[in-house]
Amino acid sequence: SWPEPVVRVQSLSESGIRAIPDRYIKPPSDRPGFENQEHVDIPVVDLKNLFSHDHTLHEETLKLISSACKEWGFFQAVNHGISHELMKCTREVWREFFNLPLEVKQEYANAPTTYEGYGSRLGVQKGAILDWSDYFFLHYLPVYLRNPSKWPSLPSSCRDLISEYGAEVVKLCGRLLKAMSISLGLKEDYLQNAFGGEDIGACLRVNFYPKCPQPDLTLGLSSHSDPGGMTLLLPDHDIAGLQVRKNGKWITVKPVPNAFIVNVGDQIQVMSNAIYKSVEHRVIVNPVKDRVSLAFFYNPKSDLPIEPAKELVSEDRPALYSPMTFDEYRLYIRTYGPRGKTQVEFSGSNR
Ligand code: OGA
Ligand code: NI
Repeated sequence: SWPEPVVRVQSLSESGIRAIPDRYIKPPSDRPGFENQEHVDIPVVDLKNLFSHDHTLHEETLKLISSACKEWGFFQAVNHGISHELMKCTREVWREFFNLPLEVKQEYANAPTTYEGYGSRLGVQKGAILDWSDYFFLHYLPVYLRNPSKWPSLPSSCRDLISEYGAEVVKLCGRLLKAMSISLGLKEDYLQNAFGGEDIGACLRVNFYPKCPQPDLTLGLSSHSDPGGMTLLLPDHDIAGLQVRKNGKWITVKPVPNAFIVNVGDQIQVMSNAIYKSVEHRVIVNPVKDRVSLAFFYNPKSDLPIEPAKELVSEDRPALYSPMTFDEYRLYIRTYGPRGKTQVEFSGSNR
């Protein structure tokens, strides 16, 4: 189990403290430093023409996805085909879940063995500096890991919404994986097959970032790259928080209404032999507003060796990574917590 008693950040926040406990205070170099924001933002990609029969429109969309995945590792997807109403209802049902009394949520308290359930930290290092957030983590795929009785039974529509939302997002992820395969010059099913075909993994992490009296001293989620394949993030509608690293600077993402924020995870970086980048990101918190986000992780089957596509390896561009399963790979973040991009870089030189 956890190395120390679990403290719910939401309870701390609601207790009305004016100063955050030392455990949440980041070293100065990691603090947000709300310096003047650059006038840049991550690319926005309109998916309307992704599978259009008009060749030019189709190619244009692929090019936009490709350059976003190379230059940023991130983009906001609009006209993605998922019902805005479903997105809103799913996000709001989770906000209601976090607003339930603590005792209700505690029934789902998680442990570091599977991480499934209601949690307040990532990593099991005793004495670690913690992030200003609580979360709920659940397995959606493979079906044998899906256990709706571990999902919130309240609000009463929560389980149905998770099922419906998951099905839609999985479909969209399949489309995006096709687009990424083609734009890497691979067969359209390459990435999906390398992920395990029908046997992919998918999980949902719902993040809750409570109001914070000293947002300049802490982070809602420390810098990390996502260990899995691809992430579709549904951010809160009227409050920013996500920051993406670009040329050493932190860019705050301004959420486009009804968009998904798509990002490349470490496994696609590996499969693409680093043509597509899994980019560091983090979350800042806010003194007056809570924030909810839904991160849906689309992952390779957990026991398949993941390695660069042969087609993307040449004498000029040797394989940067040797094979490793996702099960082995994710032990790192589950042990040490979010630590920038040290993991994929470490794996690159030492695997
Ligand atoms: C994550 C993540 C960003 C956010 O859950 O991996 O990066 O805005 N979340 O909550
Ligand atoms: Ni992330």
